[in-house]
Amino acid sequence: SKSLELKGKTVVITAGPTREKIDPVRFISNHSTGKMGYALAEKAKASGARVVLITGPVQLTAPTGVEVVKVESAEEMYNAVLQFFASADVVIKTAAVADYRPKTAYDHKVKKQSGDTFIELERTKDILLELGARKGKQILVGFAAETDNVEEYAKKKLLAKNADMIVANNVKTEGAGFGTDTNIVTIYKRNGEAVPLPLMSKHEVADKILHEISVLLKDLEKN
Ligand code: PMT
Repeated sequence: SKSLELKGKTVVITAGPTREKIDPVRFISNHSTGKMGYALAEKAKASGARVVLITGPVQLTAPTGVEVVKVESAEEMYNAVLQFFASADVVIKTAAVADYRPKTAYDHKVKKQSGDTFIELERTKDILLELGARKGKQILVGFAAETDNVEEYAKKKLLAKNADMIVANNVKTEGAGFGTDTNIVTIYKRNGEAVPLPLMSKHEVADKILHEISVLLKDLEKN
């Protein structure tokens, strides 16, 4: 039945923001609350999967029966995801991972000075790109949080990251993106198909994404 279509599968889901340390009292982060990723974890569990939820710092309670790995930085998220990748059938990268981190993380509080200052930033590792390069018989799903040219950037990400699916949301649209209980997404698939979805709850969006994944898993099993 549809309700157990991920039975026997291991689904790794990342959720929430990362925090990139400046010093012991300050960090760089973003507006992700984890709602989209936690909704996916709940629905994947309800579909019969073993679920590993790798989560940045959020205020949510993890769904019952889900294995939780708590991380803070992009680097920690990278290490956790890679640790579980080999045993995963599906990886869904919902987390809003920082693209840059302070080049120096001070272990003392940085004192303020009289004038302006700057923080030098360096690139973090691109987790999705790394997974795409290592992908075997796995379904890899990325998200794309954009404010402009959503379709173009989503399609570029699909190819550049060797993903099977990109879930794109325009985070400037009312009712979509960070913090809300709802989302408006289009699912871009490898075969060129695009599935545009209307405004719905993040739980309903999760069901739609997981259904598309189960279709891809069935295709994989045939080949
Ligand atoms: O948590 P909520 O408040 O419910 O909000 C949900 C959401 C807006 C965070 C979610 O729907 C969403 O869009 N998540 C992806 C956010 C994001 O970082 O998008 P991006 O376009 O910057 O990154 C694209 C993809 O690459 C993502 O799958 C991301 O996890 C991944 N990535 C990014 C940077 C990096 N260093 N490594 C990565 O793997």
